[in-house]
Amino acid sequence: MEQEMNRPRIIVTGGAGFIGSHTAVALSEAGYRPVIIDDLRNSHESVISSMEDILQSPLEWHRVDCGDKAGMSAVFSEPVAGAIHFAADKAVGESVANPEKYFDNNIGGTARFVSLLREHNVPHLVFSSSCTVYGEAQQLPVTESAPLLPAASPYGFTKQACEFLLQSTHAAAEGKLGMAILRYFNPVGAHPSAKIGELPLGPPSNLVPFLTQAVSGLRGPLTVFGDDYPTPDGTCIRDYLHVCDLAEAHVAALKWLEKNPSSIDTFNLGTGKGTSVKEVVASFQRSTGLQVPHQMGARRPGDVAAIYADPSKATQQLGWTSKRTLDTCLADAWRWQKQMGAE
Ligand code: WQD
Repeated sequence: MEQEMNRPRIIVTGGAGFIGSHTAVALSEAGYRPVIIDDLRNSHESVISSMEDILQSPLEWHRVDCGDKAGMSAVFSEPVAGAIHFAADKAVGESVANPEKYFDNNIGGTARFVSLLREHNVPHLVFSSSCTVYGEAQQLPVTESAPLLPAASPYGFTKQACEFLLQSTHAAAEGKLGMAILRYFNPVGAHPSAKIGELPLGPPSNLVPFLTQAVSGLRGPLTVFGDDYPTPDGTCIRDYLHVCDLAEAHVAALKWLEKNPSSIDTFNLGTGKGTSVKEVVASFQRSTGLQVPHQMGARRPGDVAAIYADPSKATQQLGWTSKRTLDTCLADAWRWQKQMGAE
């Protein structure tokens, strides 16, 4: 226990969420002490105990909104070596239907949280951004120097606004708060233990959880949102990245900040490979031998035709690269789905 208490404490907002929970596990395995901050508006308390099960050790967690100054005071009563900010709403389609919720939580919540970090002299911040900041990128694979085109959804706009907020705050803080802005492509899959994974409350908006629920019979057939896009098979192309690869990238970003304390930089986190919706379906069917009940449907508002990463900057500067294949992503996602059904 003594050794645990000496580990650097890293705040993980949204730490009971999909990427947050996998990152907290990776942080602990890398010798940090993750401090989970989550108000459970979009997750379950059971995720905390599942993480403790994987780590075989207790986790410090606080059921609080990360922007709640009074509620967060207990968190800052001990030294904080860094923070990773995941807490946000992230469904592209939902943001089109309810933009004000996304502006308040994603932009307002980030501003309130960053103010607390500055007030308590926290030196490092890793921020969860998204490839949606690129809009309909004209050049693929997309690099970090690509222009940020008008966002295709309110969700994408909130990530663009948060990036501008962080650039402004970094300058105002005169380098006292180093930042790594991570632009995720499409995180999918689950921890190989099948103890944590993507836990959508209600009908999933994302492809892979909907697909595994359709295969398990929990839902009707998967609807492929549009097969008339200007792509080889007519369906949208994305860069699907294993959530454990993504979690490991956050540890690499933290270590980069420890070596470059007053810096701010942006990194694409993807595999560098574009995969269409039809190819995801085919990959799942091939790797599991199971049929995916699916049908063609209309396009979804807010979707771009194709986007996938050039991840070479993260490889060169963070020493990170994705290691897991799409088949592994889908096999892990399916194992997680089956385990949930068994509960
Ligand atoms: C992928 C493709 C859909 C559901 C996600 C996150 C966002 C950001 C980027 C992190 C699209 C198609 C989907 C379905 C379908 N990640 N689809 N039928 O929209 O690329 O964005 O990754 O910040 O937060 O939401 O992912 O999984 O929703 O869609 O055909 O039932 O699958 O049209 O082409 P998206 P997604």
